[in-house]
Amino acid sequence: MPPSPSFPLPQGVDRILFDAETIARRVGELGAAITGDFLGKPLTVVAILQGGALFMADLIRRIHLPLQIQSISVASYHGGTTSSGTVTFLQNGLPDVSGRHVLLVDDVLDTGRTLHAIRHRLASECLPLSISLAVLLSKRIDRPVPIEAQYVGFEIDGEFVVGYGLDYAGDYRNLPFVGTLSPSILP
Ligand code: IMP
Ligand code: MG
Repeated sequence: MPPSPSFPLPQGVDRILFDAETIARRVGELGAAITGDFLGKPLTVVAILQGGALFMADLIRRIHLPLQIQSISVASYHGGTTSSGTVTFLQNGLPDVSGRHVLLVDDVLDTGRTLHAIRHRLASECLPLSISLAVLLSKRIDRPVPIEAQYVGFEIDGEFVVGYGLDYAGDYRNLPFVGTLSPSILP
């Protein structure tokens, strides 16, 4: 589908993988599944900032349950296109989720190190009843850590993508679609 005239394909993006309509439809399906799974349970949805913010904002409006929201801010890329392997927590405290079911929401599961580290800290320091993971995208790669998302929007190959929360060096997060970067702008 061509980009809407009000949002032309920005410089550096060469292909749309998932347009806004396709994303919205899939987010609705995930919301319905989550609604069924957490009926009657105290639920806190935790966005992983910055990338998970857009997905969470849309997803929680498709979860028809009382819920609370929180966020955790981490950095794992430090500006490039490959995971640095270290996860830096950019805030002092962690959200209070004791006695609650937690749904961690992020843009993409790549190596899995980010969500693995966050899940480990929450589980050991915050006493949640359970921790589940929702990601818009999951890359089909061998991951160096054991991690699986219960709710996955779309599976993609190992390519680097931007838009709908995903950035390259801080840019492109506000695109309403997910697309690939042209090789010419990558290092
Ligand atoms: P992981 O720890 O390797 O799974 O990396 C997860 C984080 O890296 C995500 O939260 C994203 O911020 C970032 N990331 C991984 N793949 C991509 C991509 O293709 N585009 C933009 N950011 C990505
Ligand atoms: Mg990122």
